[in-house]
Amino acid sequence: MQDSTVIRFVDVHKAYSGASVLNGLSLEVRRGRTLGIMGPSGTGKSVTLRHIIGLTRADSGQVLVEDRDVAQLHRKEMRELRRRMGYVFQEGALINWLSVEENVALPLRESTSLSEEDISERVQAKLKLVHIGDTGSKMPSEISGGMKKRVGLARALITDPELILYDEPNAGLDPEIARSINRQIRELSQKLDVTAIVVEHRIDCIRAVADEVIFLDEGRALVHAGSPEEFFESDHPRLLRFFGEAETKDNP
Ligand SMILES: Nc1ncnc2c1ncn2[C@@H]1O[C@H](COP(=O)(O)OP(=O)(O)O)[C@@H](O)[C@H]1O
Ligand SMILES: [Mg+2]
Repeated sequence: MQDSTVIRFVDVHKAYSGASVLNGLSLEVRRGRTLGIMGPSGTGKSVTLRHIIGLTRADSGQVLVEDRDVAQLHRKEMRELRRRMGYVFQEGALINWLSVEENVALPLRESTSLSEEDISERVQAKLKLVHIGDTGSKMPSEISGGMKKRVGLARALITDPELILYDEPNAGLDPEIARSINRQIRELSQKLDVTAIVVEHRIDCIRAVADEVIFLDEGRALVHAGSPEEFFESDHPRLLRFFGEAETKDNP
């Protein structure tokens, strides 16, 4: 089982109003591994993640999760599958009028019939896991950007998912906080042995968290490398151009 494939895209095509976004995307993520996806803005990275949780359907090709075609699942099967996935949104997506604790508890209230006591216990354990055990009663407006990201992580982890999808976990964070989030992502994948996909354009994030890396461009995995080192050593002209630009963007 160790090497089994958890996620597989086979020649996936997706267009919006005639504009092609995914154009024959194929990729694979094996159990326990973290795939990093890099690529320019608007290239379809978030769209790719949305296919996995069934929020978007491919026009053609297949998206398989544990060998099951997501497009063929019935609503109930999809709900069960989603319960085993954690999704960390780019914007954090916390609900402002709910406390940190209530935000983290939300997926449990929606998908289980656990007692309040059990919920509270689990929420506390997850907040501790991401090192913000004392923020439960605070409101989102009372905590920093880095803490909000951690709350987003705790919420994504609350159902003990086997697969976690991170959409730009460093976005909007200063470098120091970003580093601590990256360490957190790494720690989670080692401690909990989850399979993960991390979409991020920051080099330090991909270096810190990914086992393998693809570069998504023009709707395809243009470059696929077996390690971040191999990826960043590549002299593919498209990568050289991208990192030239990314560098000037990150360090103006
Ligand atoms: N629901 C949608 N309707 C129409 N166009 C969309 C939709 N979702 C994404 N797109 C388009 O698909 C392209 C890729 O988007 P996205 O995956 O969000 O890019 P990114 O790589 O920055 O995450 C963009 O041009 C975006 O405008
Ligand atoms: Mg995106």
